[in-house]
Amino acid sequence: MLTSLIASTEATFWLPRAASTGAEAVDPLFDALVWVSWFFFILIAGLTIWFAVRYRRRRDDEMGEEVRESKALEVVWTVVPTLMLLGIFYWGFTAYVDLTVPPKNILDVRVTARQWGWQFEYPEQGTKSDQLVVPVGQAVKLTMSSVDVIHSFYVPEFRIKRDVLPDRYSVTWFEATDVGDYDILCAEYCGTSHSAMSALVRVVTKPEFEAWLEAESGFDDLPLAERGELLVRKNGCTQCHSLDGAPGVAPTFLGSFGSERTFIDGSTQVMDRDYVRESIYYPARRVVKGYVGQMPTYKGTLDDDDVSAIAEYLATMTKKEP
Ligand code: CUA
Repeated sequence: MLTSLIASTEATFWLPRAASTGAEAVDPLFDALVWVSWFFFILIAGLTIWFAVRYRRRRDDEMGEEVRESKALEVVWTVVPTLMLLGIFYWGFTAYVDLTVPPKNILDVRVTARQWGWQFEYPEQGTKSDQLVVPVGQAVKLTMSSVDVIHSFYVPEFRIKRDVLPDRYSVTWFEATDVGDYDILCAEYCGTSHSAMSALVRVVTKPEFEAWLEAESGFDDLPLAERGELLVRKNGCTQCHSLDGAPGVAPTFLGSFGSERTFIDGSTQVMDRDYVRESIYYPARRVVKGYVGQMPTYKGTLDDDDVSAIAEYLATMTKKEP
């Protein structure tokens, strides 16, 4: 059998591995539709070919027999497909409602999409992360928005895909059934690095989740530069700015602080703390020559303390201070 009528924990020819309750709802319906389609495809195409051969005209003056309508046949081919479609509609609709309406006792996570990365915030736990870490067997509700263009949050193993829009919240939810790491992809073309706009959802056990939250707290007690490093990671800055000098869609952070930057209008400026602040809040003002300048503003996302911490961290990545 190509597919089975139960959700498979292994990837199949048709579908990736199933790792959420949503997949358990979607996969049997998908399989049923595939099998129904195969059945009618073979039936109809087979009959068409058979009739074409069986009832072909053999002589030029051959006339077909007059065929009278068959009430019984017409009733059957009207009623049977109607009942089947109603059944499929009911199945699909109830599954859709289940997939759309989050259950009670959910873990609340805010998702922010930007060109080109994802950020996750746990409002009740006061934690931010560039990975979506969730306990297994726990329903998770995602309230999502974008700071720039339309993105789409897609986790194939969970069978969830929902557009993430600027100036509007969209909501989706899932309950992971299997511990492991899964890819979050962007499924809406959103610019140069769309294909690289990925993140990880890490499904862990409940104790591991508690330990992770514990490790993530205590952020404010860290030294400034270490806080800056965490902020750079958590805000997805490294999606575009490399830390090791590698080229990317934005200038690398390595050795950038204290170096002279040349901008697209030809002006120059040594990268100091003020320039770091300006670049984070008003990225389009002075774009480094050779780059397009597609960075969104982080005003409202990063406060003064955050910016200071990031500048401090960038300063540790270079030898000389300006
Ligand atoms: Cu974000 Cu494609």
